[in-house]
Amino acid sequence: MSQHEGTSGRPYYVTTPIYYVNDVPHLGTAYTTIAADVFARFQRLRGRRVRFQTGLDEHGQKIAEAAEAAGAEPRAFVDRMAGPFREAWAALNATPDDFIRTTEPRHQRVVQALWSRIAERGDIYKGMYEDWYCTACEGYYTEKDLVDGKCPVHDRPATKMSSESYFFRLSAYRDRLLALYRERPDFVLPQTRMNEVERFVEAGLRDLSISRCNFKWGIPVPGDADHVMYVWFDALTNYVSALGGEGAPDYATWWPADVQLVGKDILRFHAVYWPAFLIAGGLPPPQHVFAHGWLTINGQKMSKSLRNVVEPRRLAETYGVDPVRYYLMREVNFGLDGDFSHGALVGRINADLANDLGNLLNRTIALVEKLAGGVVPPAGEPGERERALRGFAERTAVQAADDLEHYRPHRALEAIWALCGEANRFVDAAAPWALAKAGRTAELHAVLYAVLEALRWIGRMCLPVLPTKAAVLLERVGDSGPARWPSVWGELPAGVKVVRGEPLFPRIDGEREAELARQLGLETGPGASAVVGAAARGPSSSGPAAEAAPSASAASAAPLAYEDFGKLELRIARVLAAEKVPKADKLMRLSVDAGEAEPRTIVAGIALRYEPAELVGKRVVLLANLAPRKLRGIESCGMLLAATHDGRPSVLTVEDEIPPGTRVS
Ligand code: MSP
Repeated sequence: MSQHEGTSGRPYYVTTPIYYVNDVPHLGTAYTTIAADVFARFQRLRGRRVRFQTGLDEHGQKIAEAAEAAGAEPRAFVDRMAGPFREAWAALNATPDDFIRTTEPRHQRVVQALWSRIAERGDIYKGMYEDWYCTACEGYYTEKDLVDGKCPVHDRPATKMSSESYFFRLSAYRDRLLALYRERPDFVLPQTRMNEVERFVEAGLRDLSISRCNFKWGIPVPGDADHVMYVWFDALTNYVSALGGEGAPDYATWWPADVQLVGKDILRFHAVYWPAFLIAGGLPPPQHVFAHGWLTINGQKMSKSLRNVVEPRRLAETYGVDPVRYYLMREVNFGLDGDFSHGALVGRINADLANDLGNLLNRTIALVEKLAGGVVPPAGEPGERERALRGFAERTAVQAADDLEHYRPHRALEAIWALCGEANRFVDAAAPWALAKAGRTAELHAVLYAVLEALRWIGRMCLPVLPTKAAVLLERVGDSGPARWPSVWGELPAGVKVVRGEPLFPRIDGEREAELARQLGLETGPGASAVVGAAARGPSSSGPAAEAAPSASAASAAPLAYEDFGKLELRIARVLAAEKVPKADKLMRLSVDAGEAEPRTIVAGIALRYEPAELVGKRVVLLANLAPRKLRGIESCGMLLAATHDGRPSVLTVEDEIPPGTRVS
């Protein structure tokens, strides 16, 4: 694989975890890989030299057992399993610069050197080990960690292990780790995860067993042929072994990594053990460890036994790579848990991709063909409207760049889509067809140029997430400039031909959607359809749900297409403030945190039932993408869901402390 190099800026190194090779690539592992690819592509667009690394974790008891179950030697087994990972990531258009496997000699050499270095410094010693081991996590638990004698993560019986082992003196690193966290409060992101890690370390650390002598499938401990290294010591070191280890030129260029993306389940390994190993070996910790949440499928955990493991390659073959990438990056608030649902995916394809973006492109090209001879017209003298669109685009590019820089791809896409909306409104308001009719050619050209330029900015900003489709879009609007994040308005050259083509994102109609869902085995479960039924009643009511909710009747409306449910953006919102609307008995004005930059104002018809103070702090369910509506002169941006019984509205709330902005599905 080639190293992608930009021309300027500090180097940027992003990693994914290395995946256990006993499993096949699934949506969970694809999620991290796509996210890393998006950040890598974004930084390349910004002109930075980028190194994006992924790979495979091939040692340890779990892999040895899987090989045995498959009737293969571990080496042959891991060789066979590696192929599908490379292929899956290529099929998702991920562009890693390196793909490391822990069975490679280049890795083994560096791991052994790190071990020896730590041992020389006195932080590895031999002792007796006794604890509860879960093979599924390749992790140890104390008696008190277990839940009914079972692993708290996998709900499987843990085994008591007692044997000779080498230990890493982790207990001696408590204060150094705490100092690291306090000096760099953004070492772990998002912030809530940093707090969790800090609390864990504050409670005290036990020395860590880092070798095994009950099996052989691992890297030998230097100077002791009876022991192999604990798989996490081996695996974590991949991030520096692929650079050739300390002293190697690549190490000097790339380490410390800018960001190491991990799922929340393996944060402790990366935010506690890994920096401790590095500090013990005299190496600096990474800049940031970012923990993303877990994906569920239709609200259920992904698992082979539930037969709901989504194969990312098949998904991409069915819907296209870019739509799948877009969906994952847009739908889930990066850092929180999220749900994958077929209906929501189709909803995003139809609403965001086909409608908002695809239609904007199509109508613009059609207008340029009809009214400007099919070539980019001269920008001419921009009027107030064009200047406003330009300002919007410029603010969007700054905002989206900041979001991608800080690992908020969902927010970046939200901002870019707001620009799509603005450009669509700009065309409606400027009415180029009328300008043409009136012979106002200079103004017509200024309008068409501005919308083409906005599309160029949108296309450039979409490149990290939609690498193929955004490139097609750019070609169609006549942009052949170097692939860079947009920063200068007006670079689209006049006189270039625009290109008409097939729709960028074909719509998926109801019938086809059901057929695809069946093919993929992704029909929505009964739990989800219950939610569909409840949510569908909201928008059909004539105002905020709680104001005009129909009496709760068990009769259900006509069946709702999955696609339609996906269009409802239901989110958790926390009530920050509430007050009754003067001279309106029923109405309450609420300010809610819906996980966005700014609080939203909602007007709901719940004032006869609630006192404002009762509502503050509650976590409610908000229909976030309802068109704003004025009630008694106050613009209500969304709708609270509530059930009304005997005329009394009861607001839907959640019991747990779910972060504001979390999608409800
Ligand atoms: N091999 C270790 C990592 C070693 S890194 C030095 C490992 N591998 S894994 O294959 O089990 O998981 C790899 C990553 O996939 C983890 O970050 C995990 O969080 C992520 N995911 C696995 N299932 C997932 C979901 N259902 N949703 C989101 N991510 C999930 O752990």
